[in-house]
Amino acid sequence: MKILVLGQGAREHAIVKALLRTGTDKNDILVAPGNVGIAKQVLCEKNLDPTDPLEVSKFALERGIELAIIGPEAPLVAGVSDALRSQGIAVFGPSKLAAQLEGSKSFAKQVMAAAGVPTAMARQCKTLAEVEQAMEDFGAPFVIKADGLAAGKGVIVTDDSAAALEHAAQFIEMGILVEEYLSGPEVSLFFLSDGVSVMPLTPAQDFKRAFDYDLGPNTGGMGAYSPLPWLDEDFIQKVEEAVALPTIQELARLGAPFVGLLYCGLIVTERGIRVIEFNARFGDPETQVVLGRLITPLDGLLYKAATGHLDSAPEAQFSLDKAVTVVLASEGYPTTQAEVREVKGIEKAERVTGVEVCYASAVGRVLSVVATGKSFKQARKRAYKAIAKIKLEGSHYRHDIAAKVAE
Ligand code: AMP
Ligand code: GLY
Repeated sequence: MKILVLGQGAREHAIVKALLRTGTDKNDILVAPGNVGIAKQVLCEKNLDPTDPLEVSKFALERGIELAIIGPEAPLVAGVSDALRSQGIAVFGPSKLAAQLEGSKSFAKQVMAAAGVPTAMARQCKTLAEVEQAMEDFGAPFVIKADGLAAGKGVIVTDDSAAALEHAAQFIEMGILVEEYLSGPEVSLFFLSDGVSVMPLTPAQDFKRAFDYDLGPNTGGMGAYSPLPWLDEDFIQKVEEAVALPTIQELARLGAPFVGLLYCGLIVTERGIRVIEFNARFGDPETQVVLGRLITPLDGLLYKAATGHLDSAPEAQFSLDKAVTVVLASEGYPTTQAEVREVKGIEKAERVTGVEVCYASAVGRVLSVVATGKSFKQARKRAYKAIAKIKLEGSHYRHDIAAKVAE
């Protein structure tokens, strides 16, 4: 099966590694645009704009692509899935309409309300005066969300009302959602969906703040681990029944069937599980640890989802190994953008037992080191041994990824 993977980040690199590891022939994988790390493993078409629906579908037809896997949100929101599907190509990635589940937080709230999915109380605001009123009504800590795509930087959680208002002012044009603050551990759980049914993958935890001990601003994610041994045994089933299925069914009812990856961002509160966000694609860096443990052939699973036959797919199986990923970020991330500098020592890092490196970009979240081991302690040890071998002037990473669970 000829597969096209769209995207250029560590997530796409993790997808490619999982395809290769679970049996896809390297000659059957094409990535656009890809990155220097991915290009070491499979063919990349670096001149293709992944957000241009016409360009992508023309390219896919020319190359005889049978399955397109869309990594990032931008092509989804731009309608690339729709263009590919209209050419008869199987696509793992929702339509433009269904991708609004990620693209618009207010749309997601409407879907959840209609489907009876538990989530934080929220108020939609169009002016700063409305934001101020909502903040007064909800009280501190303040949760302020931009109502659109903001590359993981749209949300602030703070006790400082001036900082909250400043954040709101920055994104007021998109619209703002002020939310009730929820407290509890966070879980990311991915479901494959064919528009009608869903299949859970394995839970992961993401570390969203920039610095150790959950200090600093929110980022796209600085590290993750999987599985989560502290969850209740019926957790996955509960999320499937209370969150994933009703959401998929509501989208189908709206005429926007969701075919692709439903990313459920959850907080486990004392009063139960609550959704804090949906994404319409694999999460980054959770994908590195989730797919890092996958045993079942990934191409078959995604093809079944893309063609409406998830019910006949084998259940996704995961290794009992523990996986930990640590993200290396360039100087100033996420606040300021560094100049491009040379990264050294990646090959050395990859020689550490149980370690793989997923490349991303020259600045921002530059790469992620992914380690597996028999225990979290072993996986962490390997990940940190490997990342210490990588040299990038001014770069930083968190030292406490999976520290608690390893204890
Ligand atoms: P989001 O992009 O919506 O996932 O938000 C980014 C991060 O902000 C989440 O991972 C949480 O750590 C935090 N967050 C979002 N919504 C809430 C909420 N209602 N209560 C507490 N923390 C939240
Ligand atoms: N790690 C969070 C995300 O992918 O949005």
